[in-house]
Amino acid sequence: MRKPLMAGNWKMHKTISESLSFVTEFKTAVADVKDVDILICPTLVSVNAVYNEVKKSNIKVGAQNIFWEEKGAFTGEVSASMLKDAGCSYVLIGHSERRQYFGETNETVNKKTKAALSNGIIPIVCVGETLKDREENTTFEVIEKQVKEALLGFSQEEFSKLVIAYEPVWAIGTGKTATPQQAQEVHAFIRKVCFQICKNLADTIRILYGGSVKPDNVSELMKQPDIDGGLVGGASLEVESFVKLVNYSKNIHQI
Ligand code: PGA
Repeated sequence: MRKPLMAGNWKMHKTISESLSFVTEFKTAVADVKDVDILICPTLVSVNAVYNEVKKSNIKVGAQNIFWEEKGAFTGEVSASMLKDAGCSYVLIGHSERRQYFGETNETVNKKTKAALSNGIIPIVCVGETLKDREENTTFEVIEKQVKEALLGFSQEEFSKLVIAYEPVWAIGTGKTATPQQAQEVHAFIRKVCFQICKNLADTIRILYGGSVKPDNVSELMKQPDIDGGLVGGASLEVESFVKLVNYSKNIHQI
C-alpha cells in the first residue's frame, strides 16, 4: 500500500516569521492526521526555523533545491548534508521552474537525486511536459526521457526511496488542472516506465500530481489509482486550503 503524501511547495513565498505563524496554526489543525504524510517545503532561509517548530509533529520539512557536491567553492549552493542538518527529510528536484529559469537538465537532476539519496534525504523528482509538448503529442516521449535520465544508474535500494511528481508545466500556477483522466493516464505511464527500470518496485513508488491542485479538485484526483498525493503550490500557502487538502480523504468519504 502506498501512503499518500501531500506536499506544499511554497516557492519564493513567506518570510521566516510568516512561515512560523503558518506552521504554528497548521500543526494544530492537522495534528490528528495519520493516514497522509504531510510535507512543507519553505524557502531555504525558513527551513530550520520551520523544522524546529514542527519536529515533534506529524509534519516533515523539505527543501526546494540541492547541490550535488558535498562542500567547497560553490558560491550560493547548499549540500545534502547541510540540508539534512537543517532538518530536511525531503527535497524537490528538477521542478519545472528550476528547469526553465535556472537551466536544470535531466543530467543535473540525476546528480542531485543521487546526492540526496546518499545522505538519507527523500528526493521528489519532478517531471512534466510543456503545452508545446502536449500539443505536438510528444508528452509520453518527454516524460519517459525525463524519468529514465533522472533515475539512471540507481540501485534497487535507492530506487525504493524515491518519490516522483508529475507536474504538467501548462497546469502550474495557471488554474488549469489536468483532468483526473489526463493525470491518471500519465501517472500510469510513469509507473510503466518505473516497471521497466525496476520491476518489483514500480508498485510501491509514490507518484504525486502537481499543477493547480485545490480543495475542490483534490478528491477526484486522489481517487485515481496511480495518483498517490499532491505537490501543491498556491493552495499550500493558506492554512485553510492546505488543511483541506491534507484532509481530502474525509471529503472522499463524505461524497
Ligand atoms: P500550483 O504549483 O499548485 O500553484 O500550480 C504547483 C507546483 O509548482 O509545485
